[in-house]
Amino acid sequence: MGRLQDKVAIVTGAGQGIGLAYAERFLAEGAKVVVAEINEDRAETAMKTLDGLGDVTFVRTDIASEDSAAACAAATIDAFGKLDILVNNAALYYDIQNERNDYEYLQKVFQVNLHGAWVMARACAPAMVEQRWGRIINQSSGAAYMYNMTPVGDFTEVGAFTYSQTKWGVVGLTKFLASQLGQYNITVNCIAPGVCLSDGALNTLTSERIEELRMMAAMRRTVTPADLAGAVAFFLGDDAAVVTGQVLCVDAGTHMPG
Ligand SMILES: NC(=O)c1ccc[n+]([C@@H]2O[C@H](COP(=O)([O-])OP(=O)(O)OC[C@H]3O[C@@H](n4cnc5c(N)ncnc54)[C@H](O)[C@@H]3O)[C@@H](O)[C@H]2O)c1
Repeated sequence: MGRLQDKVAIVTGAGQGIGLAYAERFLAEGAKVVVAEINEDRAETAMKTLDGLGDVTFVRTDIASEDSAAACAAATIDAFGKLDILVNNAALYYDIQNERNDYEYLQKVFQVNLHGAWVMARACAPAMVEQRWGRIINQSSGAAYMYNMTPVGDFTEVGAFTYSQTKWGVVGLTKFLASQLGQYNITVNCIAPGVCLSDGALNTLTSERIEELRMMAAMRRTVTPADLAGAVAFFLGDDAAVVTGQVLCVDAGTHMPG
């Protein structure tokens, strides 16, 4: 019997990278999994990877749309009869446009990376409240604790400040949701990964930057999707039954917030 036997989990952004690794781990632990992904090509490839590992279905979902989030929650209950776990992993990361420096784009990144987690939580919470059991995991980032990534030369204007800001917001959202939902036996926790050599990181960061980040880690290493999946499995399991509102930096000792 796996740790998540017969639990039903939605993993957003499970079309590739860390979300896909979460889906694989949850299936191995006995859960039934919904791949909630906006990119159909990625989802199709992911479904081939997950084929044969357990009960898994793809529901095309845009986490930034309330209608789409509600439809995802409903489709999950249709497919598997209930909804126990939501992992808010999706974000603009691989697809982030680092060259964009305008307010419109800042709002777009907020809409997906921060508000998307709230939209999905709001859509999924009623089913969890009804059964008086639920687990929500939000995915922040070490970037939430790091604000000196953009070099400051001669001042021209305040630069783009999108990704870190949204990931810091995810920390606050976690504590807010934990406070709202605790009385219904729903825990809400947060993972802040260090640099993980997913396609997203390899596409978004230079190899020099990845090496700098590796050297900032006490353990002088990057993290793997399996490292992250293990931390998530802890939050979802019975050993963490009364752990809520917490942020766990899984980053080989890069950030050690008190
Ligand atoms: N890789 C790292 O080093 C690292 C470090 C810290 C935090 N993170 C965070 O971990 C998570 C996963 O990282 P990754 O490297 O696998 O990123 P990724 O960009 O490769 O994967 C994110 C997935 O989310 C999907 N997505 C984007 N917008 C969506 C939307 N509106 N609705 C539904 N799905 C959407 C994408 O299509 C993609 O499949 C992200 O939240 C990222 O910010 C990653």
